[in-house]
Amino acid sequence: MIRINENFLKLRPSYLFSEISRRLAAFQDSHKGASIIRLGIGDVTRPLPRACIDAFHKAVDEMARQDTFRGYGPEQGYLFLREKIAEFDYRSRGADIDADEIFISDGAKSDTANIQEIFSQDVRVAIPDPVYPVYLDTNVMAGRAGDMTDGRYSNIAYLDATPDNGFVPTPPDGQVDLVYLCYPNNPTGAVITKERLAQWVDYARRNKALILYDAAYEAFIRDDDLPRTIYEIEGATEVAIEFRSFSKTAGFTGTRCAFTVVPKECTAYDSALRPHSLHGLWMRRQSTKMNGVSYPVQRAAEAVYTPEGRAQVKELIDGYMENASLIRSSMEDLGLPSTGGENSPYIWVETGMDSWDFFDMLLEKAHVVCTPGEGFGRCGRGFVRISAFNSRQNVELAIDRIRKVLS
Ligand code: MLT
Repeated sequence: MIRINENFLKLRPSYLFSEISRRLAAFQDSHKGASIIRLGIGDVTRPLPRACIDAFHKAVDEMARQDTFRGYGPEQGYLFLREKIAEFDYRSRGADIDADEIFISDGAKSDTANIQEIFSQDVRVAIPDPVYPVYLDTNVMAGRAGDMTDGRYSNIAYLDATPDNGFVPTPPDGQVDLVYLCYPNNPTGAVITKERLAQWVDYARRNKALILYDAAYEAFIRDDDLPRTIYEIEGATEVAIEFRSFSKTAGFTGTRCAFTVVPKECTAYDSALRPHSLHGLWMRRQSTKMNGVSYPVQRAAEAVYTPEGRAQVKELIDGYMENASLIRSSMEDLGLPSTGGENSPYIWVETGMDSWDFFDMLLEKAHVVCTPGEGFGRCGRGFVRISAFNSRQNVELAIDRIRKVLS
């Protein structure tokens, strides 16, 4: 008899954003023609930058000609893209990352989900609360989380992110092995300073732990003093893997391209305490399980680093950040304490009521979709996340409607 992986039975019944889509579809079914404004899932709404589109077209044409056609690419990604990333995203920030330490993939979601496969079943995992659900759910699937009571798994070390700590947890007193951090943060929009990040790097070095650093929203950082990569912190290349994405940076959510940095000196240990390079393990995993990202998509991503691409990406992000600023100030005007939106496309709003009730109220009365904070964890109770990914016009309309509902 074929048996299932029973760890899947320990998951919440549906993935957060699938549950929101389900509620939205049900609402649309009973309110045909309602004009709904989506500020829920962080999905971009503006087209790809012109430079990316031009490079994309050119690469498709190359695939159509015998002399320039390409079959399988390198599993780790084309060197032309990895070299640009190493130069512009790392060396320009003083971070000593080599093109060989970069792995191109189809998304930070898949990479942050898959990376846990290379660690032992019994590592102690620390996960912020609230959190992007992928980190937690994939550890539940792998059987590391234990059982759920009152919204929490017994074997997970939760790092509470609350107004009291500015939504930035400090390292725990005890031992944890694998720490997920995300800055600018999804969902709270909070940012981490170099000093606070250095505390985590120091913790990881002292405890032979590893930080999985999700920097998918790095492009939204406005404050020049904030770290754009964990490798700006001394010693981080020994204890941190970093995830980045072109999704939110350059509008690639539907095009799919991201990358993960696994420095060669990044180390973990076997049961005899012998050190192993994680770079080798990740290379082994990726070359076994994937064949990379398509050539035209990698050429489109490369164009992000041209002078035109950089200017166009900046314009794209500036537009979303104007929305973010408007959302945040409007929520505060309505008397709802908010964070985020200054170096992040997400605004984390304290609603003063149950977060699913607030979600339902906005959907029913304002026809606006947000994301209930509770879907990101117990500390998200009473909050909602509002995303700045939409047109200026829709954001203004959504704020008008929310104002009418709340005042
Ligand atoms: C979000 O809304 O949190 C993100 O869009 C999810 C993702 O990037 O997968």
